[in-house]
Amino acid sequence: MSVTVVDHPLVQHKLSLMRDKDTSSANFRRLLREIAMLLGYEVTRDLPLAPQRIETPLTGMEAPFIEGKKLVVVPILRAGLGLADGLLELMPQARVGHIGLYRDPETKAAVEYYCKLPDDVADRLVIVCDPMLATANSAVAAIDLLKRSGAPRIKFMCLLAAPEGVKAFTDAHPDVPIWTAAIDSHLDAHAYIVPGLGDAGDRLFGTK
Ligand code: PRP
Ligand code: URA
Repeated sequence: MSVTVVDHPLVQHKLSLMRDKDTSSANFRRLLREIAMLLGYEVTRDLPLAPQRIETPLTGMEAPFIEGKKLVVVPILRAGLGLADGLLELMPQARVGHIGLYRDPETKAAVEYYCKLPDDVADRLVIVCDPMLATANSAVAAIDLLKRSGAPRIKFMCLLAAPEGVKAFTDAHPDVPIWTAAIDSHLDAHAYIVPGLGDAGDRLFGTK
């Protein structure tokens, strides 16, 4: 199992701005997109390179390019869309799958309402993104679904995690590495991350 906390000062500064309850939805959205790019830099650090012949204005050379099929970004709806925006800015050619899940307010179980993945997801690296890893019910359900669809290599990227969520996720899927900007203190009685930032989807889209 692998859990990486990206403690870069820019990530931490932007995350603190996002936690502030007075931050507007417009700024929250911009900050999430910016953090997604910074986390994405780390998540993609081990992508394999292969040389290809190109001509610079001065000479020919063997230049390194990312090898293999384009990867797939899979946001968990809704809030994952905010992270996917940043990842797609980094990797505009990536394929995109969508998994729609919401938390049942009583049981906190993940309820699936939508799934659309590229046909050849079994041939590609998948990056699943969702800002919040609370109980991990949503993330575990999304990874279950992707594994059933044949995805052989999956990474998970979030903004905030609770220790309870990290444990549940790594117990269920020890082969899927996690990148997060922070691991907070605990979950409250409603399974919200403390200190957290509140409801990520509502803050991102200005609902509630
Ligand atoms: C939030 C969040 C995660 C989930 C995390 O989504 O974006 O998907 O909760 O909680 P968990 O780890 O306990 O499953 P929510 O269900 O509120 O839906 P939304 O993105 O549509 O707001
Ligand atoms: N989902 C959120 O949006 N926030 C939390 O703190 C927990 C789950």
